[in-house]
Amino acid sequence: MIRINNLNLIYKDKYILKNINMKLKGKVGIIGSSGSGKSMITKSILKLVPEKFITQGSIDFMGEDLVKMKEKDIAKIRGKDIGYVPQDPHTALDPEIKIYKQVQELYKIHKEKVNMEKFEKLIKNFGLENTEEILNKYPRKLSGGQLQRILIAISLLLNPKLIIMDEATTALDSISQYQIAQIIKSIDTDYIFISHDLKLVSKMVDYIYVINHGELAEEGKTEEILERPQNENTIKLLEAQL
Ligand SMILES: Nc1ncnc2c1ncn2[C@@H]1O[C@H](COP(=O)(O)OP(=O)(O)OP(=O)(O)O)[C@@H](O)[C@H]1O
Ligand SMILES: [Mg+2]
Repeated sequence: MIRINNLNLIYKDKYILKNINMKLKGKVGIIGSSGSGKSMITKSILKLVPEKFITQGSIDFMGEDLVKMKEKDIAKIRGKDIGYVPQDPHTALDPEIKIYKQVQELYKIHKEKVNMEKFEKLIKNFGLENTEEILNKYPRKLSGGQLQRILIAISLLLNPKLIIMDEATTALDSISQYQIAQIIKSIDTDYIFISHDLKLVSKMVDYIYVINHGELAEEGKTEEILERPQNENTIKLLEAQL
């Protein structure tokens, strides 16, 4: 479980995130319009915010405060205890290094035995054929949808305690998106599913946080948010789906 306590993220005297409190356990969604701060929440958890940003507050994970953690320690958690599917599939991997090498490298970084069969099985499960061919490709030769399937597989590879998925299915067509969402849902791992698509999020999670201009607008069980939205911003997001 991750617990975010009074998190502020400040850049040039401007609050990018303001007083965020979240309990991330089970299957949780974060929604909000573009620029509201969803990705910055994930980046704060994984300590991937640019250095020029000031972070205040604390983020508890396994008895430690991630905000205070040194880079060498958080690097051990990133991709291992916490799986991560970043928003932009095209910059998530090194475009000039073949897929299989980057997967092997991930195992090595975390001092685990390389298991390419497991990776192949995972990408197959996410609908990719010709797995051997894909392993030998450079990321720059793959489509956004193919890369997203690969990134979801990578996020699961080292049996994380939870996975953060930032718009993890947006490069997929709607049928594939639905299929991949079903597979993700069936996985027995906690996840944080981020999207501006409230309809999709509501199918994936039990609890939803709505964020607006860097602040929490509303939170609640999925069915409560859908049936009785209290906040104007949530209502707008709901109406936008119709
Ligand atoms: N490198 C940066 N320097 C300064 N401000 C930034 C930087 N990256 C993001 N921001 C600002 O932080 C705010 C939150 O951005 P964030 O990427 O978290 O939004 P988001 O909710 O993920 O949006 P989207 O749905 O488009 O992915 C935005 O107002 C953005 O302008
Ligand atoms: Mg984002």
